[in-house]
Amino acid sequence: MEIKGSTNVVALIGHPVEHSFSPPMHNAAFEALKMDYVYTAFDVNPNDLGNAIKGADALNIKGFNVTIPHKIEVMQYLDEIDEIAALIGAVNTVDFKNLKGYNTDGIGAIKAIGDVTRIKDKNVVIAGAGGASRAISFYLAKYGVNSLKILNRNVEKAQNLAGDVSDSGLIDGVEADSIKNMDLSDANILINTTPVGMHPNVNDTPIASTEMMHEDLTVFDAVYNPNETGLLKEAIKAGAKPVYGIKMLLYQGAESFEIWTGKKAPVDVMEDALTRTLG
Ligand code: ATR
Repeated sequence: MEIKGSTNVVALIGHPVEHSFSPPMHNAAFEALKMDYVYTAFDVNPNDLGNAIKGADALNIKGFNVTIPHKIEVMQYLDEIDEIAALIGAVNTVDFKNLKGYNTDGIGAIKAIGDVTRIKDKNVVIAGAGGASRAISFYLAKYGVNSLKILNRNVEKAQNLAGDVSDSGLIDGVEADSIKNMDLSDANILINTTPVGMHPNVNDTPIASTEMMHEDLTVFDAVYNPNETGLLKEAIKAGAKPVYGIKMLLYQGAESFEIWTGKKAPVDVMEDALTRTLG
């Protein structure tokens, strides 16, 4: 790709950023569509976040992805926040056309799961009550799941998140419980947002075993390293449908791409680039 005087810049901001998979994924997309864009990454110290946003706007940067630790703090520097991003309380995508913030993490999970099963009217169990669970839970509510149960090691955190999602009015009666009480007999979809099974702890006992699963279950693991986690191995043994974490990365990226450029993202090209990057 040739960088010229006319080249549009999009970037990731975070602290740190050097191990991100996003630059190769987006640059592959720009190249495939012969778009005059480049995607890079800036390590921004938390104290400099406001200056970074103002500076990027002044430099006519087209868009940002935002990662840890800036996803919440960045909101105060934006003119507008997308409705669901405001409910989630975190932004991972900035469009400088209107200085508007979005959250594409949750939609990434919805699209990943949506590739293999319908989400509307389903019974969903989600493990974890951190940032990822929060982003996904609000989107599940928006997409009309029948029931949502949030399970966490720290039950109070699950209760707080369940309360916030219920308060959104998108769904009624979100339940919360200890992850130790997981029961999947009535569940159609299980989502893991905890780091259990993540490299290097690949031999962690998965959050659910084959015996707890059944053939009408879809299991999505947000962990993408390794690609096939212990949880997904259990799911496959049980005849449940596995959904790989890499798909969430892919679809959150595709959604951000479409926000910045207004063009349909070339997801096959992006997936190839991601697979190569993640090895
Ligand atoms: P993320 O942004 O990826 O969601 P996070 O906000 O740090 O990360 O949240 C991590 C989640 O994984 C939390 O729900 C955490 O549970 P606690 O609230 O009880 O700490 C959960 N988690 C982390 N390690 C875990 C483990 N070994 N077993 C079960 N849950 C775990």
